[in-house]
Amino acid sequence: MEKVGIIGSGLMGTGIAFVVARQIEGETVVVDVDEKILEKSRRTVEGLAARAVEKGQATQEEAGKWLKRLNHTTDRSDLKGAAFIIEAVPEDLALKCRLFTELSEICAQETILASNTSGLPITQIAAGARHPERVIGTHFFNPAPVMKLVEIVRGYATSETTIQKTRGFCSRLGKESILVEKDYPGFITTRIGNGYLAEALRCLEEGVGSAGDIDKGCRLAYNYPMGPFELMDLVGLDTVLRVFESLHQVYGERFRPSPLLRQMVSAGRLGRKSGSGFYNYAKKEKGA
Ligand code: NAI
Repeated sequence: MEKVGIIGSGLMGTGIAFVVARQIEGETVVVDVDEKILEKSRRTVEGLAARAVEKGQATQEEAGKWLKRLNHTTDRSDLKGAAFIIEAVPEDLALKCRLFTELSEICAQETILASNTSGLPITQIAAGARHPERVIGTHFFNPAPVMKLVEIVRGYATSETTIQKTRGFCSRLGKESILVEKDYPGFITTRIGNGYLAEALRCLEEGVGSAGDIDKGCRLAYNYPMGPFELMDLVGLDTVLRVFESLHQVYGERFRPSPLLRQMVSAGRLGRKSGSGFYNYAKKEKGA
């Protein structure tokens, strides 16, 4: 029986925990710093399991088994014995570095430590880990239970064995993976995706069109499931801003965070998670 750990039970950690509990027999340990957040995460996973039963994707008995595999805890030492740990704490390099150093102290030498960072350098996250050859990037996409891709990122010291084991693990989760060979910030998908988001923000700031029309244009012109502002609201504007800040430090002007985005984050308009962002979710009405 394999034990898998998830650290951080917000938007991404919760989705990843559901996928792991559904696909991997064994214990899924979900760690956060706050009991209330863990409780919310547990309820979300229960909702996802109930929906899978409603849709005929699983029997009641199977969904019950998934839920029994989950152990929500604030005690990080419960991660002891895990074969694989996925970190999904906020996009903050110092926080992630600290955590990987601490995780190295708890975990066995064989444990693979993976970060779900959207674009921070895996090599820097791994720097304080006792075994940097076992540190790797596993960038899942939102919503994790639905999105097929995991972007696997090789850090400078990541071993070939770690990459192969991670690819195998991702396919057991039912995911497709791509390998980012060089640990450049933003990897492949975030670097390209944020270029697109930056241009959409410039269009809005310059008054070229409304958020609604820019979104509709991108959806229909490119066959994207959602437009750039709908996507940023889903991801969380605080997370989007942090990613822009880290890309800007490395690549310069083209990723300079938009003043509008900064203002919205300062005003607490973080997207779906706060009830409003580019759109207003509390009133279920659209309009920037
Ligand atoms: P979030 O803010 O929803 O969740 C982060 C969670 O980490 C919170 O529940 C917080 O209490 C917890 N946390 C903070 N410090 C902790 C610690 N020391 N130990 C344990 N838990 C701690 O953030 P979200 O959106 O889930 O993002 C997490 C990571 O995933 C970030 O690196 C982000 O860039 C990345 N990501 C986010 C995507 C998105 O659409 N939001 C998509 C793909 C990657």
